Amino acid sequence: MQTIHVDHVSKSFGSLSVLEQVDIRIQQGEFAVIVGPSGCGKSTVLRMIAGLEHPSDGMVTANEEGIVRPDPSRMLIFQEHALYPWRTVEYNVGFGLELAGVSRQERSARVDMMLEKVGLSGFQQYYPHQLSGGMRQRASIARALVMDPEVLLLDEPFGALDAITKISMQNELLDLWEGTGKTVLLITHDIDEAIYLADTIYVMSPRPGRIVESITTDMPRPRNRNGAEFVALRERIMKHLNLGDH
Ligand SMILES: Nc1ncnc2c1ncn2[C@@H]1O[C@H](COP(=O)(O)OP(=O)(O)O)[C@@H](O)[C@H]1O
Ligand SMILES: [Mg+2]
Repeated sequence: MQTIHVDHVSKSFGSLSVLEQVDIRIQQGEFAVIVGPSGCGKSTVLRMIAGLEHPSDGMVTANEEGIVRPDPSRMLIFQEHALYPWRTVEYNVGFGLELAGVSRQERSARVDMMLEKVGLSGFQQYYPHQLSGGMRQRASIARALVMDPEVLLLDEPFGALDAITKISMQNELLDLWEGTGKTVLLITHDIDEAIYLADTIYVMSPRPGRIVESITTDMPRPRNRNGAEFVALRERIMKHLNLGDH
């Protein structure tokens, strides 16, 4: 299990300052969400936690140890689901296990179990183009979860889905997460998605990204998107993002 700290992190690409003094502390088992406008540096934060980028200043740590490279205990899931189009669902979901040297028999059992968890039983032999967008995203979540990571990093995972599919995927993700003790960090530019999912919401400013507020809520789930507390949080976040009253 992992506690993730982003400690006074700044990041520049050449002369472009992307992040300034970002502080995030995610407890083990917590569902954290970063919400902010496009281009504010959200993916950069996630890529640093995944070990794919390094801070220009400050530290990113897991259990107090600097994150220097990717590790199977922290799995990153993209919006563009990134499945191999020429491979079946079974292959796509199982190939990380194959790389890890897991036997064919165990692989097949773990893949089947995970596909059942994400509602894709029976689709083992399908190719990605034969699935809906929601099913493809489920397959890519299954591909990450089958590795049994401690930390799940989700980069706008539902950004490409229609509004109805998105809401059911949000519920499915909460169902998968609840009771696992896994730490989740999800990134979104969708304010309602942030409030619906998060234990803690980090609100980021436009570039250079800074955390303008972190909001912890213990609103019971499933959350009512029209409830008073939900609406109040939505207004509070919109003010931060200078979106005024709508
Ligand atoms: N590897 C890179 N090289 C140069 N610029 C980058 C790189 N990665 C991201 N950027 C720039 O950093 C800014 C923030 O990008 P990103 O973290 O992807 O934002 P977000 O995910 O919030 O939309 C953007 O202006 C982007 O062009
Ligand atoms: Mg991004």
